Amino acid sequence: MSDVLSPPTPPRAGSQSASAPAARNPRAHIMAVTSGKGGVGKTFVSANLAAALTRHGLRVLVLDADLGLANLDVVLNLYPKVTLHDVFTGKATLEEAVITAPGGFSVLLAGSGMVEYSRLTPEIRNQLMHVIDTMAPRYDVVLLDTGAGISDVVLFSVSLAAEVLVVATPEPTSLTDAYAAIKVLTTQQKRNSMRLVINQAARPGDGRAITGQLQQVLNRFVSTESGQPMRLIHMGDIPADKAVRESVMRRQLLLQSMPGCPAALAVAQLANKIKTMLTPVEYA
Ligand SMILES: Nc1ncnc2c1ncn2[C@@H]1O[C@H](COP(=O)(O)OP(=O)(O)O)[C@@H](O)[C@H]1O
Ligand SMILES: [Mg+2]
Repeated sequence: MSDVLSPPTPPRAGSQSASAPAARNPRAHIMAVTSGKGGVGKTFVSANLAAALTRHGLRVLVLDADLGLANLDVVLNLYPKVTLHDVFTGKATLEEAVITAPGGFSVLLAGSGMVEYSRLTPEIRNQLMHVIDTMAPRYDVVLLDTGAGISDVVLFSVSLAAEVLVVATPEPTSLTDAYAAIKVLTTQQKRNSMRLVINQAARPGDGRAITGQLQQVLNRFVSTESGQPMRLIHMGDIPADKAVRESVMRRQLLLQSMPGCPAALAVAQLANKIKTMLTPVEYA
């Protein structure tokens, strides 16, 4: 593995690795795409961001970590014969479950309607850690398309990532839930910073203003382990764009079907930003 995401955030996957330096952290290039509220665009962002990063020549894996209500396959028009459920239950190998998506990146798809994934069990925990430990060294970037909210399954899948990208829309309900998720992640996972993208933005500048407002509330009520405020990094805005819904209806990647539309350009810009976060690892 030649790249990590920086600035480094210490790894969060289990207490034993929480103090390891990021440069030695095999999980440092893993980014969880998460949200407080559902339906805000995590899967859309994950899939199209992966396509954009792939165009930069990076090896990208998207893992559908919304284990019980997975739908990355729907967005990508894939009909997997093997899913993570088959891997978890020993019916297939991890290698058999990896599929190449239309954008040229790899995906690990999950099943839908499986209540057994609504609660974190030691088996799910171990299986997810095994998947990450096995797959992460093979890719430059791993995106975890998580479920919404603060259930133990969501929190655990986020804990496997060094970086957190919170997706929120400008609606007060989404922002309230984003704040709640950020607060829980800060205290539970001892994070110092998180990244925020505002999706379905109505006007340019929305995201910066919203990030500023959220940061003010965090400054007052949420502090990191070191006593500093949790730092929210605004990664950009993706405009509300009817082309997004059209592409989902056609089950195509927006970056492929309508690469020039405003939302696609915004995702491409987000990918550029994330690419600049990639720095060479120094194994001193
Ligand atoms: N920028 C956008 N503009 C317009 N519609 C959007 C945008 N982003 C997402 N959507 C709509 O929201 C729906 C839900 O997005 P999705 O990525 O499935 O959310 P999540 O994974 O957070 O549940 C999409 O199917 C699409 O119709
Ligand atoms: Mg989703």
